[in-house]
Amino acid sequence: MVPTDESGPVEVPYPQYRCALCGEELPLGETHMSVTCEQHRASAPEVAFEIRPAVPSDRHDIEAICDQAWGETEIDVFGRTFDVLACDNLVAIAEDGFAGLISLAIDKGELAIVLLTVYPRYQGSGVGAALVEAAVEEARSRRLPFIKVATTNDDIPALYFYQRRGFVLYEMVAGEMVDHHGEVVPGFASIPVRDELRLRRPVC
Ligand SMILES: CC(C)(COP(=O)(O)OP(=O)(O)OC[C@H]1O[C@@H](n2cnc3c(N)ncnc32)[C@H](O)[C@@H]1OP(=O)(O)O)[C@@H](O)C(=O)NCCC(=O)NCCS
Repeated sequence: MVPTDESGPVEVPYPQYRCALCGEELPLGETHMSVTCEQHRASAPEVAFEIRPAVPSDRHDIEAICDQAWGETEIDVFGRTFDVLACDNLVAIAEDGFAGLISLAIDKGELAIVLLTVYPRYQGSGVGAALVEAAVEEARSRRLPFIKVATTNDDIPALYFYQRRGFVLYEMVAGEMVDHHGEVVPGFASIPVRDELRLRRPVC
């Protein structure tokens, strides 16, 4: 059922993250952070999945996950616009469906992660980490010196995720996201989305 208010149908933001404790799928504005000890780390259900290069019949699933993550298949990052459908895409397929996508392109002699996204219901089960490792292998096989990624200042889980996997901050484009959106929009935990943060990891 489409939610409505007195003025008609209400646009509901897509969920981007999964609550690590109860599994609820959360739009960015409803997320919060907490710090735990090793013993109380939240664990997600085990998920069986495979990573493989995308094939033409994945197109619909790729468009759908881009729509949820970014609203479109054209991604503005590293000062360029990339079309995900023209990128090298690796997909994560779970037993019961499409779980995640990592979209790759070469930019200035480095392998750029144009988009990495995992559906909330599969998050915390190692899908994102496996997609990144597959991308690192891809960079290695192409003999590229670095793999890089960009995220935004509000996305603390993504900053945690990449730094845990050996990525190092090397550049920030202050105000880039305000230019992109034409205004300051609320992001993770309602933190204002302002800046593009670039991280990279050596490969060879
Ligand atoms: C960031 C993202 C790609 C990670 O993918 P994932 O499949 O959840 O990652 P993994 O299962 O491999 O987990 C990686 C780490 O994140 C932690 N994690 C994942 N989901 C979590 C959650 N809901 N709450 C808390 N921690 C979580 C895991 O515990 C793990 O931590 P560790 O490094 O200490 O082991 C995914 O959460 C996502 O798509 N988020 C929304 C979109 C986004 O922000 N994309 C990145 C933009 S650059």
